[in-house]
Amino acid sequence: MSEYILEIENLTKTFPGVKALDNVSVKIKKGEIHSLCGENGAGKSTLMNVISGVYPKGTYEGKVIYKGHETGYHNVKDSEKEGIAIIHQELALSPYLSIYENIFLGHMKTRAGIIRWDDYIKESQKYLDQVGLDEKPSTIVSRLGLGKQQLVEIARALSKKIELLILDEPTSSLNDEESEKLLDLILELKKQGLTCVMISHKLGEVLKIADSVTILRDGMSISSYDVKADNLTETMIIKDMVGRDLTARFPERHTVPGDTIMEVKNWTVYHEDYHSIKVVTDASFYLRKGEILAFCGHMGAGRTELMMSIFGQSYGSRCEGEVFIHGEKVNTKTTQLAMQAGLGYVSEDRKNLGLILIQDVKTNISVSSMKKLSRMGIVSDQKEIEEAERYRRELRIKTPSINQITRNLSGGNQQKVVLSRTLLADPEILIVDEPTRGIDVGAKWEIYNILNELVAQGKSVIMVTSELPEALGMADRIYVMADGKIKGMFMREEATQEKIMHIASID
Ligand SMILES: Nc1ncnc2c1ncn2[C@@H]1O[C@H](COP(=O)(O)OP(=O)(O)OP(=O)(O)O)[C@@H](O)[C@H]1O
Ligand SMILES: [Mg+2]
Repeated sequence: MSEYILEIENLTKTFPGVKALDNVSVKIKKGEIHSLCGENGAGKSTLMNVISGVYPKGTYEGKVIYKGHETGYHNVKDSEKEGIAIIHQELALSPYLSIYENIFLGHMKTRAGIIRWDDYIKESQKYLDQVGLDEKPSTIVSRLGLGKQQLVEIARALSKKIELLILDEPTSSLNDEESEKLLDLILELKKQGLTCVMISHKLGEVLKIADSVTILRDGMSISSYDVKADNLTETMIIKDMVGRDLTARFPERHTVPGDTIMEVKNWTVYHEDYHSIKVVTDASFYLRKGEILAFCGHMGAGRTELMMSIFGQSYGSRCEGEVFIHGEKVNTKTTQLAMQAGLGYVSEDRKNLGLILIQDVKTNISVSSMKKLSRMGIVSDQKEIEEAERYRRELRIKTPSINQITRNLSGGNQQKVVLSRTLLADPEILIVDEPTRGIDVGAKWEIYNILNELVAQGKSVIMVTSELPEALGMADRIYVMADGKIKGMFMREEATQEKIMHIASID
């Protein structure tokens, strides 16, 4: 039998106006971890969707050979039956069902026509143990953080007796600790004989766990490497991804922050469902004009809740505390008021970015700036088009046209549309939550440049980030949160990864 579990030969897949895959050939060895890298829109998710039957036979050209036979799946169920499982970029669990229901949903067996729930609860425990998730099978999924939800997805995949596991950016929503755990799990599953294909923009983790790496660019397979034999480095991957060298990761900035522009005093936020629980306790911080301020901490430290509650109480059942902008106390109780006060917010939640997915790119960019784009109450189409085109160019949003339906854009490019919308609204204070999650290295550089440009114009930026190098590379100051409280603050010069991690881990 061949050493390859999966062989993709000359695969081409087109959408109207887009050649998503252009004669792609890749071979995946049995039992290896094979990583797929490439810029946003390079075709990674599309390739995985072809393999797993999301795009059925007949909608692409070329061959997919699995375990020596050419496949012809009509849907995902067909590929599952043969032992292929895919975990998508956006998680697909049912939030209001329990863990065990999610694990067995859609592939339950009955005994004498009866579903034996007790059996399922017992069996799901086995899979939870296997993925190292310390939660009761009856826990409702929406109560779990993203990291744990990811583990439920993997437990679900394992319950189907799989041989090939495809993970599309599995760590993009996880913090360092959770990512580490997940990568260890993947390595453990490999020991048990599972083959794994992992798409990731985090090149450090790719090199850490992958045996082979294939790089796609503009829908073409550019190169494949054996990590050890080829002595593969991040620089080599980046070069093939973007087609040029990219030496520095963070553009230089020479501006110096000015006076305090915003101050938040004694901010406390209560849990949305459990009204007596505080998710943020007595947080006080300040932001200067022309400053980039980072908020670091573990997932669940309260950073997002702090920012969302300040921005129009988009989170929380109740908030206490005060916000001052230009020395004056402001009311930010609704998003409308927060925007009037000069705030803008870009959410971290990829699934729920606030995009109107069935609308085109242009509308999604302009929707928060209708006033600015109108004269005497009438929206200027010309202006709307100009602005949308400008952001498409500046952020390199990959789409055949600004009239494309937003749902058809790749994950990273949808993210860029959200950022464009907030930038167009031109807030004095921009709050970005995980601004580069799921964004490729080249596009990250462009986003960093834009943030630098904003502060050069005198705007101020608050950046919630789980990527410490990003905080250290971009911010003037760094606040560290843990357990709903601000535990410390560093100037850029004095901050190190170790110091931040240390404070972030204090309970
Ligand atoms: N259903 C669709 N209709 C039209 N175009 C599509 C559709 N799905 C994907 N595309 C286009 O195909 C190209 C490849 O998209 P794909 O989602 O595979 O990228 P990706 O490499 O996964 O990117 P990312 O890193 O941003 O997730 C993109 O240009 C995208 O806009
Ligand atoms: Mg993708």
